[in-house]
Amino acid sequence: HLSNLRGLKSGTLRISCATTAKYFIPHLLGPFCKQYPGIDIQFTVANRQQVIERYEQGVDDFFVFSYVPEGLDLEVREFMSNDLVAIANSEHPLTKHKKVSLKAFCQENFIIREEGSGTRYAIERFLQSKNITPNVRMTIASNEAIIHSVLSGMGVSILSAHTLAFGDSYNVKVIDVESLPIQSKWSFCWAKSKQLSPIAKVFLDYVANEGKDLMTKVLKL
Ligand code: PGA
Repeated sequence: HLSNLRGLKSGTLRISCATTAKYFIPHLLGPFCKQYPGIDIQFTVANRQQVIERYEQGVDDFFVFSYVPEGLDLEVREFMSNDLVAIANSEHPLTKHKKVSLKAFCQENFIIREEGSGTRYAIERFLQSKNITPNVRMTIASNEAIIHSVLSGMGVSILSAHTLAFGDSYNVKVIDVESLPIQSKWSFCWAKSKQLSPIAKVFLDYVANEGKDLMTKVLKL
């Protein structure tokens, strides 16, 4: 075991993720770096297309997705749930209701993530299964900008609950909408063709052993 650790004194762990994972990955990396101070981290937050390009270049040890892209030769390890919740500004009339029908919620001015976003994909697939077309008025390629647009009273949205765990989300209200939250999952993925480096293996074990507890503390799951 000790010799293992010695071998890990230096090196780089490379992770890239689509934007919504950026809220929790740093909270895994912080304690990991304390345990292994010699390991450098290269953490890329990009849009899904760029993450897929990085997969093609073979530079990263891990990719983090909730909607794992189809057609890539990936090993997939599920990590934790990713609930997508309905949000509105705290003054929105819907906040007065105890329970809102999915149809009524989707008739509000709806703000949605950009084409290619995993969050958007999950929402579209879910609403299609319910035969509901949302009243999309605005497409925004950023969770934070969606939160600010909701705060400004521009409309409602459905986002990962993890986007609400910090800062900007003050005054955003989660609305109790029928059939929600939409349940998806975060996964760590790596290319099947690529052998995991010793550092990557240690990180994977660390995530399996300590990841859940850390997330419970940080995200108040
Ligand atoms: P995104 O993240 O909505 O920010 O793209 C989710 C995912 O990777 O599936």
